[in-house]
Amino acid sequence: MYDFTPAELELIVNTMLKDYGLFFQPEKYSFVRQRLHSFALDAGISDYSNLVLRVSKDAELRRRLVEALVTNETWFFRHPKQFEILKREILPELISEGYGKIRIWSAGCSNGAEAYSVLFLLLEAIKASSSERTIDILATDISRRVLESARRGRYNLAELKEVDACRLSEYFERIDSESYVVKSQYREMVNFEKMNLFQDWPKQQFDIILCRNTMIYFKREDKKELSERFLKALKPGGYFFLGANESLDLNLYPSIDRAFENKSSVYKKSHMVPQKAEIFFATAGDMIKAMNLMEKNNLKFDFGENILDQDCTRSMILQEKHLERVLSIFQKRSIKIKEVKRHLL
Ligand SMILES: C[S@@+](CC[C@H](N)C(=O)[O-])C[C@H]1O[C@@H](n2cnc3c(N)ncnc32)[C@H](O)[C@@H]1O
Repeated sequence: MYDFTPAELELIVNTMLKDYGLFFQPEKYSFVRQRLHSFALDAGISDYSNLVLRVSKDAELRRRLVEALVTNETWFFRHPKQFEILKREILPELISEGYGKIRIWSAGCSNGAEAYSVLFLLLEAIKASSSERTIDILATDISRRVLESARRGRYNLAELKEVDACRLSEYFERIDSESYVVKSQYREMVNFEKMNLFQDWPKQQFDIILCRNTMIYFKREDKKELSERFLKALKPGGYFFLGANESLDLNLYPSIDRAFENKSSVYKKSHMVPQKAEIFFATAGDMIKAMNLMEKNNLKFDFGENILDQDCTRSMILQEKHLERVLSIFQKRSIKIKEVKRHLL
C-alpha cells in the first residue's frame, strides 16, 4: 500500500506549524499519518504526492486538512472545578464591581459547549444579583465545521453529561432520546466567529478569557507568546482560564496577581495601582464639554465606567453622584487613588 514518504509527511507537518501553529512531535507522526489517510479517502484523493502538492498550493485544502488534524473534543462544564470557581467567586465579583457589558472570550471554542456553559452561569449570576449588566460572549475557533455545529447548538447525551436536569429544561429543547438543542434565545447570545489565533485577534478587552485545551497543540514559544497576548487582551482584574492540565509559569508573567486557586489553572490579572489619577466632576449635561476640554489640554481621561478597565494612570471625569460607588470599588480592590476633587467646568 502506498504511504507518505518521511519528506512528504515533514512538509505537511511544517505547513500546519507555519499556518496554524499546530506542532506535531515526531512521535505523533503515526497519528498524523492515520488522519491523513482518512482525509485523503474522504477527499477522494488517491495519489498522495498530489495531495502533498495541493496542500502547499491550495489554502482551502489546508483549511480542511487542519480540521482533520485537530481534536475538537469538548463537553458542557468540562473541568467542573473551574466552573465552580467561576460561579462561586468570579462572577459575583465581576457583576458587583463593574459597569456595562461583561465581555467573555472562549478561544478554541470547538462546538460551543464551553461558551454556552459560561453563558448559563452568567445569566444565573446576573439574575441572582438583580443586576442590569449585559453580556457579550465571543467564541472563536479555526474550524468552520465546529463553528457551524456550535451555531446549531445540538448536543448528544455524552456532551450533556454534566448538565443537571434543571438547566437541561431551562436552556435546551429535547430533539429525541439521544440529543438536545440549545434554545434559540440562548444561541443568539453567543457570537461564534472563525479565528486563527496565529493570524487574527479581537480588538476589544475582556473580563474573562478561556483558552482551554487548545494551546496543547502549540510549541512552547508560541504558547508563551499567545499567553502574553491573552493577558494583554484581559482587562485589569480579569480572569484567564487554561485547561485543567495546563499552567502558566507565574515567574514569566508579572501581570498575574496569583493563581486563583492552587492547581485550578485559573489566573487573575492584577489591577494597576493608579498613581496619578485625578477625579474631575462634571454634570451629565456637561460631559461632552468636559471631554473636549480635557482633549484640548492634552489630558488623558476616561469616564467613570472605563477607568476601571484601563491602566488608571489617567484622569477621570465623573458625575459627583457616582463618586461613592467608584471609591468603594477602588477600596474593595485595594487600589489607592490620589483623589483630587476638582470641578472641571
Ligand atoms: C480540544 S478543543 C477545546 C475545546 C474547549 N476549549 C474545551 O476545553 O473543551 C481545541 C480547539 O482548538 C481549536 N484550534 C486549534 N488550533 C487553533 C488555532 N490556531 N486557532 C484557533 N483555534 C484553534 C481546534 O479547532 C479545537 O476546536
